[in-house]
Amino acid sequence: MIGAGGHGRVVADIAAALGYAEIVFIDRRWPEQTSNHIWPVISQDVAQALAPETDTVVAIGQCRTRLALLRDLQARRASIATLIHPAAVVSPHAIIGLGSVVMPEAVINVGARLGAGCIANTACSIDHDCQIADGVHVSPGAHLAGGVTVGEASWVGIGSAVIEGMTLGRDVMVAAGAVVTTALADGVTVYGVPARPMAEKGQ
Ligand SMILES: CC(C)(COP(=O)(O)OP(=O)(O)OC[C@H]1O[C@@H](n2cnc3c(N)ncnc32)[C@H](O)[C@@H]1OP(=O)(O)O)[C@@H](O)C(=O)NCCC(=O)NCCS
Repeated sequence: MIGAGGHGRVVADIAAALGYAEIVFIDRRWPEQTSNHIWPVISQDVAQALAPETDTVVAIGQCRTRLALLRDLQARRASIATLIHPAAVVSPHAIIGLGSVVMPEAVINVGARLGAGCIANTACSIDHDCQIADGVHVSPGAHLAGGVTVGEASWVGIGSAVIEGMTLGRDVMVAAGAVVTTALADGVTVYGVPARPMAEKGQ
């Protein structure tokens, strides 16, 4: 498990629920000896700490960082796990990309496609035919209606919604609770109902 923070511990619980008996974190920013972490943490760079033939998951919330590390692991030919919690509902006709994590109560419907290194967080819904690029995070309780397209490394915030057929660019940030009713260009942050650019708020 790469990344020993709160998100990493949630992902570790999912790995345990799926039957992984031994879970070890790698986090070079973590102190070597730690008493308040449930699982052992190796405080080293990924390159030094990776064990051969061991399933690995990048469990870092920040989308670009997660995606960059995943691609680095792929280049190293590491064994990368894709974790789908048993309490998630995933259509047999949906595709979940390598290294993605699908959390409890998430629903992913027919024809949806999640890229690599995505997070479908707790109780989110990704409806029919959505096309979700690599490194996207759909936060807890966020809802994507049918046929939504989301670009690489975008973050759909907690409790937000995107109406059907919308296209969101890459590196978009949808604020918590926003309702997206228009297409969004690369790199914008939007908030509110209906969602509008944060820049218009004087940010
Ligand atoms: C949009 C967001 C990224 C902005 O963060 P930020 O740039 O640090 O913004 P700030 O907290 O400084 O707030 C700036 C202003 O926007 C407002 N604001 C922040 N988030 C907002 C939101 N979701 N909806 C409406 N207004 C919001 C603040 O109240 C503040 O308003 P003010 O200038 O009138 O005081 C952040 O608030 C957010 O929504 N993050 C999503 C969190 C999430 O989904 N977490 C899930 C983890 S699994």
